[in-house]
Amino acid sequence: MSEFSDSAKLLIDNQEIDLDVYTGVEGERSIDITSLYKDHQLTTYDPSLGNTAICRSSITYIDGERGVLRYRGIPIEQFDRPKPNFIEVAWALIFGRLPDQEELDQFREILTNNELLHEGMLGQFMTLPVDAPPMAILSAMISMMACYHKEFLLLEDEKILMGAAARLISKVRTIAAFTYRRSMGLPFIYPDPNMRYCANFLHMMFSLPYKQFAVSEEMEDALNLILILHADHEQNCSASAVRVVCSAQANLFASCSAGVNALWGPLHGGANVKVMEMLESIYRGGYRAEDCIKAAKDRNNPFRLFGFGHRVYRNYDPRAKILKSACDRLFNKLKHNDPLLDIARKLEELALKDPYFVDRKLYPNVDFYSGILLRAMGIPTNMFTVMFAMGRLPGWIAQWKEQHFADGAKIIRPRQLYVGNPKSNYIEMERR
Ligand code: CMC
Repeated sequence: MSEFSDSAKLLIDNQEIDLDVYTGVEGERSIDITSLYKDHQLTTYDPSLGNTAICRSSITYIDGERGVLRYRGIPIEQFDRPKPNFIEVAWALIFGRLPDQEELDQFREILTNNELLHEGMLGQFMTLPVDAPPMAILSAMISMMACYHKEFLLLEDEKILMGAAARLISKVRTIAAFTYRRSMGLPFIYPDPNMRYCANFLHMMFSLPYKQFAVSEEMEDALNLILILHADHEQNCSASAVRVVCSAQANLFASCSAGVNALWGPLHGGANVKVMEMLESIYRGGYRAEDCIKAAKDRNNPFRLFGFGHRVYRNYDPRAKILKSACDRLFNKLKHNDPLLDIARKLEELALKDPYFVDRKLYPNVDFYSGILLRAMGIPTNMFTVMFAMGRLPGWIAQWKEQHFADGAKIIRPRQLYVGNPKSNYIEMERR
């Protein structure tokens, strides 16, 4: 919880305005400007909110300068070993601390009991074009959950919220797998209640009727790890979308559906698809990594090195570091080779010593290596952002919960600096 610790003075029109300054638990400072408009009719200008703390939060901590990421205070690296467990992390993000065994088992039971989709929702799948974008399907299906689970539209009690959260997390996995099956013209494979979350997902993706897909431990661990690393990232674009929608007192399904739509964009979660397309086109076209780096630096060339750069990290994204070594581990174990991994390594090596990237503090982000790992599991590129969404869902739910139950929470409604026409008159059509 941040505390009032200091004050700042703003000098404007020869008038001094006193502003409170808060300090977060890790020492970060934030000037409270909430009274500026009310008392002085002044707004602050921060177009992409890069300098604005929109809430107090105790979910996730990031130090972008040092490349630090913690969930509920726990460094992200500690969730990697000895065995990554996405559901445990999801519980911790949503409910504020690590669960005990009984709590975890209880949560798992609700997940298992709710893994099937309502037959009505299943029917909706059949009405969608087979080549519909998976993220469009995902956001529509999450939105549609409001039609089939009206008992969760009002969530004023933590127990009811747990039921809603478990259903969302469980069903999103089924929706994601069914989206893939539909796109391939394959029959739906129903979830197996005896399987854990990640193994069950791989089963629904790749089993065939009467031919069970053998999920290896390595694959299950790698998927758990990927989902954990995507599980929350404080006030990113999609989490902020979730908070904005939530602040209007919209329900959890509507808010998470908005999160999916924000995540879809190529500058956010959609970047993992762009990275893979980039690596594939470099490989197929036989381009040199050196030329790609050159193109990424050229202002007249729209090419960007996808998977590089981050609004918050001015250092190596800790998630990318973990994924890079997870790639090495999995590939060694499975004796797997992927020329795209070699290209990615080469691009990274060149970028990290190139003044353009060094000066701008552009490092690999989470999307740079995640796709290579997903590809090794047989997940098709058009499902990558859906995988990101599956991972990010607990984070959205945690952000929604914090926003919804915050003391004195108000609708989020920014201001603007109007630069349009001054007052002008309507002109009749014939006089224009
Ligand atoms: N390739 C080449 N140049 C870049 C890149 C890149 N990937 N990223 C940033 N730059 C340059 C940019 O052109 C600008 O240069 P200049 O100062 O000369 O104008 C400078 O670095 C600062 O970039 P910015 O776009 O102002 O930074 P931002 O904080 O607004 O954007 C970003 C952050 C992630 C959108 C951006 O780095 C980017 O577009 N990266 C590629 C897309 C990507 O990988 N996105 C995934 C982000 S991580 C997962 C997630 O959170 O969703």
